[in-house]
Amino acid sequence: SLAQIGVTGLAVMGRNLARNFARNGFTVAVHNRSPQKMTSLLAEHGDEGDFIGCESLEDFVAALERPRKIVIMVQAGPATDAVIDALVPLLDQGDIVVDAGNAHFPDTRRREAALREIGLHFVGSGVSGGEEGALLGPSIMPGGPAESYKTLGPILEKISAKVDGVPCCTHVGPDGAGHFVKMVHNGIEYADMQLIGEAYQLLREGLDLTPAEIGDIFDEWNKGDLESFLIEITAEVLKQVDARTGKPLVDVIVDEAGQKGTGRWTVQSALDLGVPVTGIAEATFARAISSQIAQREAARDVLSASTSEWHINNRDGFIEDVRLALYASKVVAYAQGFDQIQAASEEYGWNVDRGAMARIWRGGCIIRARFLNRITEAYERDADLASLLVDPYFANEVSDGVAAWRRVVSMAALTGVPTPAFSSSLAYYDALRAERLPAALIQGQRDFFGAHTYKRTDVEGTFHTLWSEDRSEVEA
Ligand code: 6PG
Repeated sequence: SLAQIGVTGLAVMGRNLARNFARNGFTVAVHNRSPQKMTSLLAEHGDEGDFIGCESLEDFVAALERPRKIVIMVQAGPATDAVIDALVPLLDQGDIVVDAGNAHFPDTRRREAALREIGLHFVGSGVSGGEEGALLGPSIMPGGPAESYKTLGPILEKISAKVDGVPCCTHVGPDGAGHFVKMVHNGIEYADMQLIGEAYQLLREGLDLTPAEIGDIFDEWNKGDLESFLIEITAEVLKQVDARTGKPLVDVIVDEAGQKGTGRWTVQSALDLGVPVTGIAEATFARAISSQIAQREAARDVLSASTSEWHINNRDGFIEDVRLALYASKVVAYAQGFDQIQAASEEYGWNVDRGAMARIWRGGCIIRARFLNRITEAYERDADLASLLVDPYFANEVSDGVAAWRRVVSMAALTGVPTPAFSSSLAYYDALRAERLPAALIQGQRDFFGAHTYKRTDVEGTFHTLWSEDRSEVEA
């Protein structure tokens, strides 16, 4: 019999997705450019379900029932284009090509338009959850034509993670919407990780705790509002002891953070859309700073510290302050990420349901967290919510922690612990709530040197002061 779904590209992610389909009762055709990966998959896991191993793309396409549903899981960029180009001549009208890699959404928009032109469906789909998620149930963010979701959706939902029986998969929106949402997911992931890193550093320097002791604190935090996959694995990483040296593993890992680029894309897109994703941006830049080895080396002994000593009288009070600061900053990062999704949704006409995005992020993905339920509820209360921060639940949660947040950020500044994400998130919060911003002065400066004009608070219209003449005001 024919296969209901095909997977081409059988590196770890593709291989695990294929196994996930098979374990869920689908007959899955599998193909890899070099057949060895395909044969080893069948040899090692062939008994997990119904696989049809295909040596050539022609055999692969012929093994699929129509409309064909083909998942491509190869490297983003030229490798993806190469597979699409090879597949397209073999396909028929209405067939569905799914790119499940971390593609950049403008590429997805381009590919979708090209395939639509020739009667094929192209679905750019975010898939989160790493290797284990791909096998046991990822969070899946498919974009592309809504029509394709009718046949593809039920299959993807079946293999996705479930929370309270609800699949972590939904149709995100047309063309590049799925990959865009996955990109922002990764941006938020960067922010989350950086915030956790800052909390760790503060606890370590402020209380002189060992990584393992801090791991215990994270375990404790994982029982409350902060409950999430990233907090959970942080505790595990902190408790890991290096077999070679007997030291905490975190102390022997080089402190240069890598990045494959999705955080950078998120920030680039945010700049284009004019959305201040300060938490994500600071997190991305913090990784960049960590990798500026020559500059760090040059600065270490030269830049004066002039720091204050730590004064912590109440150990538990400080831990709670850091927890509250982490939670408040995290809400800011998510609020900004959801703003970016909304801005893109308006820009490209995607009509993305933000509450549904929070819902499909509750399980399977890297940023899965208890509080995503609250985000879904917030958008259910008000689908047009101006900012997550003004939703009554979150406004209240954050306000409970604001004083602690200020204490932590000021203590970090005094003691010289870099907390770019904590600090910028608080600045963002204060900017949003400010009665007046110095933007008025900036408008004055712009008008002074460039006659860029300004608006008045009291009268309609656009104005300019004749700065180099008698400094009277004219209507521009
Ligand atoms: C996921 C992850 C996944 C991957 C990132 C890591 O959702 O499963 O986000 O996409 O682990 O590519 O990104 P960096 O290498 O940029 O940290």
